[in-house]
Amino acid sequence: MTCRVVVLLSGRGSNFRAIAEAALPIEIAAVISNRPQAAGLEYARERGIPAIALDHTQYADRATYDAQLADEVERHRPDLVVLAGYMRILSPAFIACFEGRLLNIHPSLLPMFPGLHTHERALEEGVKVHGCTVHFVTDKLDHGPIVIQAAVPVRADDTPETLAARVLAQEHRIYPQAVRWFAEGRLVNIHGRVNLKDDSTSQSVLSTGT
Ligand code: GRF
Repeated sequence: MTCRVVVLLSGRGSNFRAIAEAALPIEIAAVISNRPQAAGLEYARERGIPAIALDHTQYADRATYDAQLADEVERHRPDLVVLAGYMRILSPAFIACFEGRLLNIHPSLLPMFPGLHTHERALEEGVKVHGCTVHFVTDKLDHGPIVIQAAVPVRADDTPETLAARVLAQEHRIYPQAVRWFAEGRLVNIHGRVNLKDDSTSQSVLSTGT
């Protein structure tokens, strides 16, 4: 049975694009955005994928919005919900509905630099290695069992923009990979640690970007 995926995003949607173009064994059942103008919605429409805008500014509070969002997501009967640049904190009630089938990508090597402005903070701290993480979503923001990470070197002349671009190239590689593993039923979560079935090597750092 094909894995049904619902994508949530707020903007550009380049991670969604990478997933959509990766020829994965999935059906993208819908793309939902809290921002009606999100470029990711436009791309979904071009590909004939149901694109739904659910404008959060039209709702009284987060709980009401997230209840509506959960209904909308559920309507598409997802096996997997993919957060691809969804820039709103999700309420515990929403997360509880989809826990275990809710993935996020974060532009740092978690648990370093949860939250926003990760590339600026990495440069401020002078770290020599930075990267990105795909993880299952739990109640704790930017935590949760790690599926895959990719590392990139930080260069002396990096700006937040050049570093972000190097990390983004890796995001586009590891997110489709994580979705593939999920769709193939290869992810095993043992006490909060995700392992890959039938894997003799560690998947935790797949490779280092240049
Ligand atoms: C990515 O850097 C992702 O890691 C973060 O938000 C950004 C979304 O970019 N969560 P895009 O919309 O996928 O292009």
